[in-house]
Amino acid sequence: MAEAITLRYPTPRARVEAMMEYHPPLGSRDALRLDFNENTLACSPKVCETLASISAGDLTRYPEREPVEAIVAAHLGLQAEQVALTNGVDEAIHVLFETFLEADHELLLPVPTYTMYQVYASATDALLVAVQAADDLQFPFELLARAISPRTKIIAIANPNSPSGSVATRGQLVELAQRAPHAVLLVDEAYFHFHGETVMDLVGAVPNLVVARTFSKAYGLAGLRLGLLAGPAGLMRWIRRVLSPYSVNSLALACLPPALEDTAYLDWYVAEVLAARRDFEAALDAAGVRRWPSRANFILADIGAKHAEFVRLMRGRGVLVRDRSSDPGCDGRVRITIGTREQMKQAIAALNETLAALRSGSEAQ
Ligand SMILES: Cc1ncc(COP(=O)(O)O)c(C=O)c1O
Repeated sequence: MAEAITLRYPTPRARVEAMMEYHPPLGSRDALRLDFNENTLACSPKVCETLASISAGDLTRYPEREPVEAIVAAHLGLQAEQVALTNGVDEAIHVLFETFLEADHELLLPVPTYTMYQVYASATDALLVAVQAADDLQFPFELLARAISPRTKIIAIANPNSPSGSVATRGQLVELAQRAPHAVLLVDEAYFHFHGETVMDLVGAVPNLVVARTFSKAYGLAGLRLGLLAGPAGLMRWIRRVLSPYSVNSLALACLPPALEDTAYLDWYVAEVLAARRDFEAALDAAGVRRWPSRANFILADIGAKHAEFVRLMRGRGVLVRDRSSDPGCDGRVRITIGTREQMKQAIAALNETLAALRSGSEAQ
């Protein structure tokens, strides 16, 4: 008779055991996707043409990132050594934290903000120092500047921020960089195209500034996983040591040049979202729903105690939105991505019906 075997698994690092888990609420998203701040329509048709031209033989090769990094760097007005492509900004954050954070270091963050900073920080031995924004969710510059210590090693700022849509000014960012010369200032410009302001032009000139950009939002390439980090060559060399040489796959690399070239498509999509954002803001105002001013492709709305029911009822009407109630200082708040004007008509109709149902209690569970 076979002996009963007790399975004993090797244990991970203590940090990993204690690590914060993050499971994005994906799954059955066959509806209007206003939940992940993606492009809600499509990428450039030029990208689709490129994808269709990729042969089986092309896929047998390891991806070669350097030529594409040179193209992106030229597009951004930077040197090739100043730019590293990554598997989405998420990998950029992970690699940056692995490169710079160790025990006794502090990661300084305004909150609420993008969740993955905290997730990746929790895999390191560094301490998280979170600075809570006030109720207006404006960038808490003064508090953040005062929280800088000799142990601050990275300051991570999403600009525009998620889920609030608020922004830091260029002056504030430069001042933070100057007040913490021993730290890396990460400015995550994932939503840059909807805001239009950047500090990318300061890369190299400000020695501790690193800027991240993604192709997941305005460009509509979230599925390809494509992002970048730009910083002074003297910092990027350490980041490149940690970064896998093949983490950006060859399909993503092939699609990047046509995505960059098709500025007409990008401009059209961004203009569409900005117009739709105005429509949706007006709808929220007319419905008496408090909202926070946003410079991104989403709006945070105060739905109140019935936030979970609101999300469920919107889903029932074919519109996915994101409950941000568990974010610090965001109880009762729901984030709604802005799509095209046509799509937002559907969203506005669903919003008004859902609010009416919640107010009358007619669809309560
Ligand atoms: C501020 C911010 N940075 C980065 C990302 C993720 O970007 P990527 O898809 O390139 O990993 C997001 C996605 O929601 C975000 O909100």
